[in-house]
Amino acid sequence: MCGIVGYLGKKDAYPVLIKGLGRLEYRGYDSAGLALLNSDGGLNVYKTKGKVKDLDTFCKDKNISGTVGIAHTRWATHGEPSSVNAHPHYSESKNLAIIHNGIIENYADLKKKLQSKGLTFRSDTDTEVLVQLIEYIQNKKKLDLLSSVQVALHEVIGAYSIALLDKREPDQIIAACKQSPLVIGVAEDEFFLASDASPIIEYTDKVAYLEDGSIAVMKRGENLKVVDILNRELFQKIQTVDLNLGQIEKGGYPHFMLKEIFEQPECLTNCMRGRINVEATNVTLSAVIDYKERLLAAKRIIIVACGTSWHAGLIGKQIIESLCRIPVEVEYASEFRYRNPVVTDNDVVIAISQSGETADTLAAVKLAKQHGAFIYGICNAIGSSIPRATDTGSYIHVGPEIGVASTKAFTGQVIVLTMLALALAKEKHTIDEDVYTKIVKGLSNIPEKMEETLKLNDRISRLSRIFTYARNFLYLGRGYSYPVALEGALKLKEISYIHAEGYPAAEMKHGPIALIDSDMPVVVIATRNAMYEKVLSNIQEIKARKGKVIALVSKGDETISKIADEVIELPDTEECLEPLLATIPLQLLAYHIAVCKGKNVDQPRNLAKSVTVE
Ligand code: AGP
Ligand code: GLU
Repeated sequence: MCGIVGYLGKKDAYPVLIKGLGRLEYRGYDSAGLALLNSDGGLNVYKTKGKVKDLDTFCKDKNISGTVGIAHTRWATHGEPSSVNAHPHYSESKNLAIIHNGIIENYADLKKKLQSKGLTFRSDTDTEVLVQLIEYIQNKKKLDLLSSVQVALHEVIGAYSIALLDKREPDQIIAACKQSPLVIGVAEDEFFLASDASPIIEYTDKVAYLEDGSIAVMKRGENLKVVDILNRELFQKIQTVDLNLGQIEKGGYPHFMLKEIFEQPECLTNCMRGRINVEATNVTLSAVIDYKERLLAAKRIIIVACGTSWHAGLIGKQIIESLCRIPVEVEYASEFRYRNPVVTDNDVVIAISQSGETADTLAAVKLAKQHGAFIYGICNAIGSSIPRATDTGSYIHVGPEIGVASTKAFTGQVIVLTMLALALAKEKHTIDEDVYTKIVKGLSNIPEKMEETLKLNDRISRLSRIFTYARNFLYLGRGYSYPVALEGALKLKEISYIHAEGYPAAEMKHGPIALIDSDMPVVVIATRNAMYEKVLSNIQEIKARKGKVIALVSKGDETISKIADEVIELPDTEECLEPLLATIPLQLLAYHIAVCKGKNVDQPRNLAKSVTVE
């Protein structure tokens, strides 16, 4: 959940750590801290509640010398956000300092045991228990840091990535991970350590993604060594990472979220590059070519995902069922993993995740695998845990998404799901040639139509001022637009803290219609498609109860513009591709309302970008 950074090398560690934390702050951001092995042999820990910039200010008058250090930005799971609970945590003697991402599930038992041996605790965190345990083992068994970490991890239940410093072994960082990501950057006489590659790439493009159960030893003057808990040496691939700094900086936009909304045409072009041919007549996905038999044999597809990715899954279900005639179920990964689901080796499970690190989705993948299902990943973060756990998959290739509210990843996921449906339908002969050709053409025109849709930005910015003070919002849509309504509502909730609900438009009369009065803005997706007349009636029902209707309509719609309070016109496209365009005004609406309310758009309260805890 949090961000981890580490450095050992010839430079001053402090600037590398602070900059790295800034790049990772989107992962968790309630407090931050760092530990430095100072040049005079001290191990100093500085930490504070708040943001990375607060930590930087706090450190202004401190001793920040040293070429070895670790740093952390926290998203609290155990103990309130405070400077005491912030990481790093010292061991009892202050010889060791640890940073940790994840949860030590049996921390309470371990803590009791250590307290009974006379150890005292400064914080409420699970993390402090681990560092105390390591030191206890070190002292009791007279072991070095590596061996005591190995022994301690035997006793630990949970998910973690950790990094440790020991004052008495000053030229070394030990790091370990289980079900939580850790990347090591390797340069000449230097090691960089981070939760993802973004803090590393400005120094080196040579990185090692640690596998589950790895313990990495970074020692000055030595090569990277990776062992397991039993001290068996593991082969560690070092790869070249293809990320550039421009991709992870704001590029002139006030917020990452706005940058990412506007990047969508380009990102989706990248997503389709090499997959849709230049004549826009054919879709090829390498995973479908490589695993054709297995995919075509699927009796059923189960999509597992969380949040926005789950919404993309709902759209994918409709497209796959309609084009491929394969039944599709869409499951919240967090529910699926805990309810003994019926999964067989005839099933294909599609796991959708931007970060590729969501703990619930990863656990759902592992569960489905145990039942023999074939797993297909649709992820964004290259080399992350979910793609590594799947049988095959397709990256969405939309570049790093930093804003906590997911935008370009959603449209990228929908594009990949559509390409997958088309590729499978063609192989299965369940699609007419002309329908296939129309949708492929439609897909290839989406970036251009998105550019056109983005021109609505100024209008939506003005519109958002009218609705900034609404206490509730309703979002309605039918068919392909229903998941878009859910996604629009989620965006608003996440960043503006306005209560919003997405509903299938026809369900309104079964309950939510009771909420409608003149204070209730209702966003209705009412493009000209098979559902048009029905949605029109739903709009009439809202107006009859004095609700304020903001309607998303097809260009040139004259009927709804006479009834709705506000009308937003969308370019025409194939019905199954409409979500890709209809989502844009809803992302912009949420963005501008949040900005008007003065909210922290990129880092909304209580949220974190990748939810690596249950
Ligand atoms: C989206 O705006 C959210 N922040 C959140 O719902 C997110 O989509 C969810 O946590 C899943 O993340 P993933 O795609 O990285 O697995
Ligand atoms: N469980 C730890 C804590 O609450 C780590 C949380 C995190 O991953 O940031 O401090």
